[in-house]
Parts: sequence; C-alpha cells; structure tokens
Amino acid sequence: TISHAKGMVNAVLRRFLRERETLMPQAVKHGPGRWNYPQWWIDTLRAAYPQQWEGILAAGNRAPPLTLRVNRRKASVEQYLRTLADAQIGAAAIGPSAVRLDKPVPVSQIPGFAEGIVSVQDAAAQLATPLLDLHDGMRVLDACAAPGGKTGHMLECADIDLLALDSDRARLARITENLDRLKLKAALKAGDASSRDWWDGRPFDRILADVPCTASGIVRRHPDIRWLRRKEDAAQLATLSARILDNLWQMLKPGGKLALVTCSLWPRESELQAAAFAERNNAIRLPAPGQLLPTADMQQDHDGLFYALFQKDGV
Ligand SMILES: C[S@@+](CC[C@H](N)C(=O)[O-])C[C@H]1O[C@@H](n2cnc3c(N)ncnc32)[C@H](O)[C@@H]1O
Repeated sequence: TISHAKGMVNAVLRRFLRERETLMPQAVKHGPGRWNYPQWWIDTLRAAYPQQWEGILAAGNRAPPLTLRVNRRKASVEQYLRTLADAQIGAAAIGPSAVRLDKPVPVSQIPGFAEGIVSVQDAAAQLATPLLDLHDGMRVLDACAAPGGKTGHMLECADIDLLALDSDRARLARITENLDRLKLKAALKAGDASSRDWWDGRPFDRILADVPCTASGIVRRHPDIRWLRRKEDAAQLATLSARILDNLWQMLKPGGKLALVTCSLWPRESELQAAAFAERNNAIRLPAPGQLLPTADMQQDHDGLFYALFQKDGV
C-alpha cells in the first residue's frame, strides 16, 4: 500500500507542477486557499464582524507573542522590565501587569519564572482578575480552572479562600504545578460545574466561569483549531455552558458577582449567551470588556476573549 500511495502522491505533485499556472490563481482567489481557514469559519466571521473580519483572519495567521504576567506580590512591572533589560531581553509593558517579550524564549530562560515572579499569560486573559473586584477574605469559586492561569492571578491579587474546580482530573494536576511554582494555595476539586454534587452548600462572593468553548479567539496560539472544529460545535458548547452558568448562579451570594469568560469570537458563545443568561436569571449586568477582537500592534497585543459581568440582586 505504501508504494501505491507513493505513486499516487507523485502523480498528484507532477500534475500540480504541470498545471500550477492555472491552479494557483484559482486557489488563492477563494476563501480557504487565500486565508487558510475553512469556508464556514470565514462566513461566520464575516457575518458577525462585517467591518473587521479580514483583520481578524489575518491576526489568527500571525505568530503569537510571549506575554508574561508580573506577580504583584513579588515585583512591579517597572522592576521586572529592569530585570529583563539587565538580562538583555527586549520587552514592553502592554497592560497593568502584562509584559510582552520582543521575541519568544523558552520559559527556562525567562528571569524569575521558576521563582514565581512571572507567569505566561495572554494580556486579554489578565483582565479576568481585575474585573472580579476581589477583596481579602472573600470566598471565591474558579469553576473551570485548569490549567490555573487565572487561579494564580486571583491568588496573587488578594488573600481569598479559593476553590478551583475542573471536570478534567488530569488537567487539575497542571493547577497544582502552577500554584506550587507561585507558592500560593487553593482548594482543588474534580467536579462538573453543571452539577451540584461537589458543592458544600456555602455560597460564594465571586465566581469565575471560564467556560469550555470553541477557542475561536485564540487561533494564533492553536493554528489547527480552525480545521479541528465543526460548525455545529459552537451550539453544543453554548448549550453546555448555559447549563454551567445557570447552575453556578444558584451558588452565588446575594450581591455577589459572576464573570463569564470565553476565548470565542462566536456571538452565540459570548454576547448572545450573556444576554440570554441575564434574561433567564434576572441578573444585573455590570460594565465589562465585552468582545475583545484579537489584536497585535505596538500598544495592544492580545487574544480574542469575551467578558461579561453579572451581579445578583439583593444585598
Ligand atoms: C478555557 S479552559 C479554562 C482556562 C483556565 N481558567 C485558565 O485561565 O487557565 C476551560 C476548562 O473547563 C474545563 N471544563 C469543561 N467542562 C467542564 C465542566 N462541565 N465542569 C467543570 N470544568 C469543565 C476544561 O477541562 C478546561 O480545563
């Protein structure tokens, strides 16, 4: 069979070489050949973002930056930029705690990484913790927590009583690794955020719901996502996430806040989801970044995440 395949592949390649002149202009004229995304993906983006869709497709085809989050318990952004300068590593501040390296380097070469002074985290992902308005002593749930990027950030910012939940036991171990490096502590639990069986009945002041999604906003970091996903996935994942959100809402204190986060660009997973959730549960909507489109320029460089913030009535 291998020699069969060889003959076949050679024939295809020879034909391509012969007909290249006519084939190439046709291929790049159309969506998938021009952009390297499935046609349904291009169509969905164009419908949702009639002005920006081409920029978004292009952003997904560029190499991602290496962005760090400076642990405010250990250093300020200014101090850390000096540390990088001393190590001859070019970098710039692109957010309150975010530092982007001019060129990605292996984590073993990042000064202070092993000591927990910095973590690797996209600048958009760093917006979750400030949004939650955490105070010392709060009881907080990180409902879809693995690998613990946002878990670590929350613990760096306040002395909270944090429960990190994830349904994937293997991924929970990644949270332990991250928190050990940062020398911070949370209670870890394997459980399904759409069920109640892991809950001890004590309500939370804050809940972070970084729900499972298509990841259509982070294709620059995972270039194969566009080919692995199917058009139907967004609807399925949005249904699961709606169940997770409705369930978590029951666990929130009156006056408490819940943040919905996705790394999706599809409205049914983000804004449509948020609006329907608020409607079903009579949730108060507070200001939040909303849909962030993937961007890379001097000042701004982040993935395409979505943020909505809800408050429960009755303080
Ligand atoms: C977007 S990732 C979370 C990223 C994480 N918050 C961070 O900042 O590093 C979504 C997570 O949800 C988990 N998950 C999927 N379905 C779940 C469910 N029903 N209950 C709890 N976690 C779930 C996945 O295992 C995955 O780790």
